[in-house]
Amino acid sequence: MDLSPSRPAVVIDNGSGYTKMGFAGNVEPCFILPTVVAVNESFLNQSRNLSKGNWLAQHNAGVMADLDFFIGDEALSKSRSSSTYNLSYPIQHGQVENWDAMERYWQQCIFNYLRCDPEDHYFLLTESPLTSPESREYTGEIMFETFNVPGLYIGVNSVLALAAGYTTSKCEMTGVVVDVGDGAAHVVPVADGYVIGSSIKSIPISGKDVTLFVQKLMRERGENVPPEDSFEVARKVKEMYCYTCSDIVKEFNKHDKEPAKYIKHWRGIKPKTGAPYSCDIGYERFLGPEIFFNPEIYGSDFTTPLPVVIDKCIQSAPIDTRRSLYKNIVLSGGSTMFKDFHKRLQRDLKKIVDTRVILSEARLNGEIRSQPVEVNVVSHPIQRFAVWFGGSVLASTPEFFTACHTKAEYEEHGASICRTNPVFKGMY
Ligand SMILES: Nc1ncnc2c1ncn2[C@@H]1O[C@H](COP(=O)(O)OP(=O)(O)OP(=O)(O)O)[C@@H](O)[C@H]1O
Ligand SMILES: [Mg+2]
Repeated sequence: MDLSPSRPAVVIDNGSGYTKMGFAGNVEPCFILPTVVAVNESFLNQSRNLSKGNWLAQHNAGVMADLDFFIGDEALSKSRSSSTYNLSYPIQHGQVENWDAMERYWQQCIFNYLRCDPEDHYFLLTESPLTSPESREYTGEIMFETFNVPGLYIGVNSVLALAAGYTTSKCEMTGVVVDVGDGAAHVVPVADGYVIGSSIKSIPISGKDVTLFVQKLMRERGENVPPEDSFEVARKVKEMYCYTCSDIVKEFNKHDKEPAKYIKHWRGIKPKTGAPYSCDIGYERFLGPEIFFNPEIYGSDFTTPLPVVIDKCIQSAPIDTRRSLYKNIVLSGGSTMFKDFHKRLQRDLKKIVDTRVILSEARLNGEIRSQPVEVNVVSHPIQRFAVWFGGSVLASTPEFFTACHTKAEYEEHGASICRTNPVFKGMY
């Protein structure tokens, strides 16, 4: 029986910051939108507050609340221009926190952006490696009940990021994925396509923290940025001008010696008055991404550098997988895009590994020489949406359709079918 329907599967990677959506088989997502919903509060409040007797008005207000909402950039601009719209960010730190807003978000993704009938397409969605089975059940319920999809696969984002290498000649399904997005950062070891769950490490520092740190540095230097715009300016400054340096002290010196070469200028318009303003961008260019390598400059709550977290993650994995894991450290997520991020990670991690080898050889009085450990941090051009791309590749294989939960299975067994996730056996 040929299970593969003629229409391509829909692939949606909902991130804490941005949603990447499109169709399987494509190289790029059709849309990358902020994961935010703006709901018209006046209709919502009306439908809540009207008395039961006035059911028609209550019903109408409810219907209007269901229709009058926006997502993505449209939501942001609506909330700026009108105070009746309230913003809701349905995903926090990689987990869905507001299911009502999430359902609205998917509704617009499907009907207004991708413009497809969900009954005609299989769906591939993504989840964080720490998502609970209950949350996966909710997703299944919404997809099968509200959207009536014929089939659904919920892929673990790190595994999908590894699969992004599938189209290149050597697809390794063993490796460590370092996924640093907007609201979550995970280091996930994968062996033969299976996540080594007990060795997953989470880091409480991600893209949003870099933005907050850049915002703070600019504010402390007394830069002339209007407060209501300062977070957005900091985000843009971060994405356009930040880079990873090899040594902070040297970098300070470089900036001081040749300011003209390193200082950038930002020009903007004050949202309230429309007056133009400008400001300088200095040390924050390299201090922003430095919080991954020297987190104590950002705060005292978490002080383990990212390369140490990666090393700990690999050291806690089964001993026979460690060499292959060090050999294939794959970057994924927008916050790994800083210039030279992979070089710094590779250098710092190699230092940690080499020091351990030297120490263990010294302990054995040099009687046994160990094989050098190959450390390889892989950087690739589609890092920004590696998870989505991996989903697009997997969802265009025939195996995908056999790995999906189907509507018929859902109707027979209920949402509990979504608790487990079959891996594509054929692929690995
Ligand atoms: N060129 C760039 N340089 C640095 N950071 C960038 C760049 N482009 C995007 N970012 C940052 O990457 C983050 C978004 O990345 P991504 O889309 O992977 O996150 P997400 O999937 O929404 O979040 P998460 O995976 O944490 O739930 C944002 O913080 C954004 O500012
Ligand atoms: Mg993500």
